Amino acid sequence: MMKQHKHKMYIKLFAAICAIVMSFSSVSIATAAVKDTDVDGLTDEGEINIYHTDINNPDTDTDGVSDGQEILNGTDPLNAGLIIPQEENFTDPGIFGKPEQFPWYLARAAGILAFILLSASTIFGLVISSRAFIKIVPGVDAFEFHRTLSFASVIAVILHFTSLFFDQYFRLTPAEALVPFLFSRTGIVASAGYDIRIPLALGVIAFYLVIVLVLTAEFRAKMAPNMWRIIHYVSFTAYPLFLLHGFMSGTDSKEGWMRAIYILSVALVASLIIVRIVFRTLIPAIRRVRSSFVKDEASSGTPLS
Ligand code: HEM
Repeated sequence: MMKQHKHKMYIKLFAAICAIVMSFSSVSIATAAVKDTDVDGLTDEGEINIYHTDINNPDTDTDGVSDGQEILNGTDPLNAGLIIPQEENFTDPGIFGKPEQFPWYLARAAGILAFILLSASTIFGLVISSRAFIKIVPGVDAFEFHRTLSFASVIAVILHFTSLFFDQYFRLTPAEALVPFLFSRTGIVASAGYDIRIPLALGVIAFYLVIVLVLTAEFRAKMAPNMWRIIHYVSFTAYPLFLLHGFMSGTDSKEGWMRAIYILSVALVASLIIVRIVFRTLIPAIRRVRSSFVKDEASSGTPLS
């Protein structure tokens, strides 16, 4: 009964965390979508993806007319004096003016949510395995959280890539989402400057590794402990893969808040790996060496200092 109540509490807490993260990332993406760094009347997103103008320079071609005004006038903001033929004139409708872009916004928000959930799951896993925080976070609670986070992250990843099936730009196919390296369209460069094909394959591989982790955690009781442990070490490969995937393929990798999320995640995971090495390897090794010294001294009859 008590256990069931606790479980319900976890689920509620968890749903609240997901809702907060999802709203945070949606608002951040929406803010990024309407951000206009150089205040020239064009959003940064429009300048990067549609007009290819400089987001930090209100007058990219330095002809004295701002980029936004040039678009309104029908002149080319990249070439002083050049008039764009009428049919090539673009307008920048902003986030709500293009409902066809919603799948893309959803894919990004779900990708960020998946990244945060998987990072949190990795962090809880390290908290459990280092055994350094057992008094602060009891093992059972940490394990329950670790499991729930991993499970929820799978749902977020599925939402993340299935949204891209409906995105008119990516037009991702189910096969491309499930077979690593199948996505072969060239010329798609992400905001961090990387061709998207390799990072995409890393994301697909990471997804399979996460599935393996979640399934083996569910069937842990039926597996030999060593077998389970070896498979669970896969998590150390999954983490760098989805980290690289997100950073190298994400539209938001250039945003300060997204970088802060990546940096915080890496800092926590790296510190906990160090804590784990200290508590699980170094301290037991020192204790072993000390106790063998004590034994030697006792058997040779030398008084202990
Ligand atoms: C463990 C699995 C995965 C995680 C944690 C993950 C997470 C992320 C994150 C954090 C981003 C950056 C979002 C942004 O900057 O707005 C991203 C981008 C992306 N992901 Fe994933 N992803 C995973 C798997 C996949 C899979 C299987 C696919 C399908 C092929 C995929 C396709 C994409 C695409 C196309 C982008 C670029 C979207 C954009 O920002 O324009 N991801 N992912």
